[in-house]
Amino acid sequence: MSRTHDAAPRQTSSPGLESFLADYRPGWTLSGRFFTDPAIYQLDLDRIWKQGWLFAGHICEIPKAGDYFVLNMDKESVIVIRDDEGRVRALHNVCRHRGSLLCDQPEGHAPRLVCPYHQWTYRPNGDLIACRGMQEDLDKSQFHLLPVAVEEVSGLIYLSFAESPLPFAPARDQWEPLARPQGFERARVAKVADYVVRANWKLVWENNRECYHCNLNHPQYIKANFDHYNADDTTPQLRDRMTTASVELESKWAAAGIAPRSETGMTPFPDADRNIWYSANRTPLVEGYVSETMDGRAVAPLMGDYPDPDVGTLRMRSLPNFWNHSSCDHGVSTRLLPLGPEQTAIRVWWLVADHAVEGRDYDLSKLLPFWQLTSEQDWEICERQQRGVQSSAYRPGPYSTTKEYNVDAFVRWYLKKLKA
Ligand code: FES
Ligand SMILES: [Fe+2]
Repeated sequence: MSRTHDAAPRQTSSPGLESFLADYRPGWTLSGRFFTDPAIYQLDLDRIWKQGWLFAGHICEIPKAGDYFVLNMDKESVIVIRDDEGRVRALHNVCRHRGSLLCDQPEGHAPRLVCPYHQWTYRPNGDLIACRGMQEDLDKSQFHLLPVAVEEVSGLIYLSFAESPLPFAPARDQWEPLARPQGFERARVAKVADYVVRANWKLVWENNRECYHCNLNHPQYIKANFDHYNADDTTPQLRDRMTTASVELESKWAAAGIAPRSETGMTPFPDADRNIWYSANRTPLVEGYVSETMDGRAVAPLMGDYPDPDVGTLRMRSLPNFWNHSSCDHGVSTRLLPLGPEQTAIRVWWLVADHAVEGRDYDLSKLLPFWQLTSEQDWEICERQQRGVQSSAYRPGPYSTTKEYNVDAFVRWYLKKLKA
């Protein structure tokens, strides 16, 4: 007797979610199970990670046809590759013969993708072109590698596992004018650092969404930036300084054709009510700083179209897995990928202009420390919090309305997605 399984209709409410939310109070932290429970983790994967747009990497990492890198998330593995026509493709890393993984290297160059099992061979666009030993009448056109939705914006590559991905155009429309002068398409990767952080991905985001913790935890960051000041601790003199910095730079940027969208405080993000998962802005640095470096000086040649170093910092962020801070001379991208309820894989890239030569135009000992220190300080904070929230003694606590409004917005965005 055989049984068939009809495709299950998508559930509109998550079974058991109500019990997890029984003690949730708006404006307070989530209960500990949100950071430890495998059932919640599965919901996070299904409702957020497999529905949203995920930052994968940079166009400049795959400059030539056949260049690729692999992104692994949960049970999925995707090859991001440049095809023979120069287009960026995202293809499931699963052979159409008997399902072997095709690429087991994290990155490389493959003019043809050859399965290591029986050598079925594919073009970088996913076309099957050879399958020795198979019957003559096998219709190769039926065995393309399965595609994954992919989009590009200003040198950044995004992919989505969703059957009907969210519209990407609104993010592109907002980001392009801001990001174009940075020239990420004409960048090169100076350094990559990979971390396994023993914390749930939501704790990493919550930490990213406030600078309440910055004064004591980020001694380097606060010297360069204004955004650790909030409405409750900003003096009139400081407000004047921030306004002056902003007004001066905005008129300068406008004259140079750089989109003048400036914010001096912590950028409001995300917008849970309007479901906004992306944002970008340009922010003045503190007087005397032209780059997010240890002494505020530029440490590499100007990137992109910047006419001079005084361009503040470009900041971009998208849920669930990306943020970037870019100065006149370098950009730093951060990508999160969930590894389990209590672990997150984090990659940090440092990018410089493609013509910059290490040792001649920049030195890693000057380029890396600012964001290496700031990032690692944050990972330590997240791991410490993970240890605490999994204790039987953890109880939800209240957010500051002046300093943690973005953490509250993140939690509201998250819960809305989970309940969708
Ligand atoms: S599984 Fe790939 S060629 Fe057989
Ligand atoms: Fe931080």
